[in-house]
Amino acid sequence: MNNSKKVIERFRDSLIHWESLNYRPMPWKGIKDPYLIWLSEIILQQTRVQQGWEYFLKFKKAFPNVSKLAKADEQKVLKLWQGLGYYSRARNLHFTAKFIHQAGGKFKADYKWLLSLKGVGPYTAAAIASFAFDLPYAVVDGNVYRVLSRIFAIETPIDSSAGKKQFQLLADQLLDKKNPSTYNQAIIDFGATLCTPKQPNCLECPFEKSCLARQENRIDIFPVKEKKIKKKKRFFNYLDIRYKGKRLFRERIAKDVWKGLYDFPLIETSKPAGLDVLKQTKEWRKFMDGFAIERLEVHPKLFKQELTHQSLIGRFYILQVKKIPKQLEKQFKWATEKNIESLPFPKMISFYLEDKDLYLIL
Ligand code: ADE
Repeated sequence: MNNSKKVIERFRDSLIHWESLNYRPMPWKGIKDPYLIWLSEIILQQTRVQQGWEYFLKFKKAFPNVSKLAKADEQKVLKLWQGLGYYSRARNLHFTAKFIHQAGGKFKADYKWLLSLKGVGPYTAAAIASFAFDLPYAVVDGNVYRVLSRIFAIETPIDSSAGKKQFQLLADQLLDKKNPSTYNQAIIDFGATLCTPKQPNCLECPFEKSCLARQENRIDIFPVKEKKIKKKKRFFNYLDIRYKGKRLFRERIAKDVWKGLYDFPLIETSKPAGLDVLKQTKEWRKFMDGFAIERLEVHPKLFKQELTHQSLIGRFYILQVKKIPKQLEKQFKWATEKNIESLPFPKMISFYLEDKDLYLIL
């Protein structure tokens, strides 16, 4: 695509003007400390501003600089992250903090170096480079794909390699090189508040007349995607085993997104399973062998959680037991109500423990 200089300048100026009229203060705006910018951007990946806000402040307070974060216990980092989900972000955050601390504790004003950090992709590297160091790198995230695909009616799928190249090229062309941080912040805010995925506010849009998707009445087809995500359904049957005032938890050691977090002994099934079915499984027979069950209750609620590639459905069984095995594998841990407060949990487990209804479906 070859946009004329005039089109490019008009786009930039309108966007920056829009931002000046619609400025939303946020705790990371205007900050130049690359550590805090990095922290905010990792928190904001896959998280809404409103939710990320308090987490950013909590992390900033607990770990005011990269060395403080580097020296923290991983469990403490995960605990503070609890509720944000996508825990690999927290693990990468901690890993990268340790790496930077060991390398002298300073972020380099260098896009390639930023990009080499674990957990930092082209979007986050461009955000840090521009916000903290005023380097001319254009951010391209979901907001930018949406805004540019609509205004310029670009039908190349955003999840194809041709699409990624095309959008990055256009974003680089449009970027205000003299003022990259204001420009980048403006396009993110514009996409998040005006050119939203559903029901964009076209009547108040400065591009109302020039937006090609609007002219063609095709806003809802943009951005175009090649693949529709097919979600896998997973049924988690959790055993909440209670013995003498303690509950049995399990540290997740498998290399999945919940590694290092605590849940309950779990029997996973590919279909909804009742108690009769569960009792017939190998896992139940093997695991429950050393326990003597006194009382068994099925928790009346089903918990549901939607992730990008999977739908999780959780059912909890409460088992009061009067005899326990002499030994359990070392990932299992008996915890008192007091101990529970310091353990990091996946979202569904913390909602269950706090008896919150957000994911209730039955
Ligand atoms: N989402 C990601 N980065 C952001 C930022 N700097 N401001 C607002 N929303 C964001």
